[in-house]
Amino acid sequence: MVSRYALFEQCRSILEKKNIDSARFDTLCIFQDMLGERNPILVTDKNKDVPPELSDKIMELVRRRSEGYPLQYLLGEWEFYGYPFKVGKGVLIPRPDTETLVEHTLAACRQIENKYPKIIDLCSGSGCIAVTLKKEIPEAEVFAAEISDEAIKYLKQNAELNNADITIIQGDVLDEKLQQSLLDFDIIVSNPPYLTGEEMQELQMEVAFEPELALFGGNDGLGFYRRLTAMWKNSLKISGYLLYEFGMGQHSAVSEILAENGFTDITLQKDAAGIIRTISGKK
Ligand SMILES: C[S@@+](CC[C@H](N)C(=O)[O-])C[C@H]1O[C@@H](n2cnc3c(N)ncnc32)[C@H](O)[C@@H]1O
Repeated sequence: MVSRYALFEQCRSILEKKNIDSARFDTLCIFQDMLGERNPILVTDKNKDVPPELSDKIMELVRRRSEGYPLQYLLGEWEFYGYPFKVGKGVLIPRPDTETLVEHTLAACRQIENKYPKIIDLCSGSGCIAVTLKKEIPEAEVFAAEISDEAIKYLKQNAELNNADITIIQGDVLDEKLQQSLLDFDIIVSNPPYLTGEEMQELQMEVAFEPELALFGGNDGLGFYRRLTAMWKNSLKISGYLLYEFGMGQHSAVSEILAENGFTDITLQKDAAGIIRTISGKK
């Protein structure tokens, strides 16, 4: 049998050799998950033996991680805005950047007069935005629209896991019939696919495991902003807000799209890394 500490060092070193920047953190997360303890390599515990079946399982996770498979998919769950979200192949992993979009949306909700806002999250994926908004504003009526069969499974699971009573719609948000069936929203929010054709060619190893449907936003990355804005402004109440997350450097183009569609009070917000990341516009 191998001690926890020896196994930990062996795993960390495997990941480091594969140039995984977060080798120590990833090893710790895998140990926490497999041993079910928050501090699995505390000084008092580090000489404890790891049973062979468990060390085999840990080594298998480390092997997959060393091949670039995302840590979040291996663990099966990730935290967003303090809430747990199930994740796995076929669904985008919730990013800290998107917490900025939630903050921005909560600020927009405070601007509108309706205490019971009607909100829709387009391209909902894991449901991290829709579920979090419902948790933060329990009086809100929240809808989540998503096209992918795989993502929808996680979306349903995450709404249940967080006890969030939201309406989940499986459909194509670029379909006018769907838009015309969903009207009178106070808030429309979306983190649509926004990578350009060029960026899709240079994906970071981990991101390449995530679904292309969640990433590719057309050759210039702006396809969804143009089409969603033109269509979904018709589903927004007067004085309602449209909010988006976008990629680094897309803020001017997305601002123009909102202005061309008649939105006013256009406001941009930076994420924690200082990158302009989200936009809101008032109808
Ligand atoms: C960038 S991901 C965002 C997921 C989630 N909102 C988040 O912030 O983590 C975009 C999502 O849009 C979905 N999607 C792509 N095209 C769509 C379409 N035409 N209609 C509805 N959803 C679509 C993808 O399946 C993916 O889940």
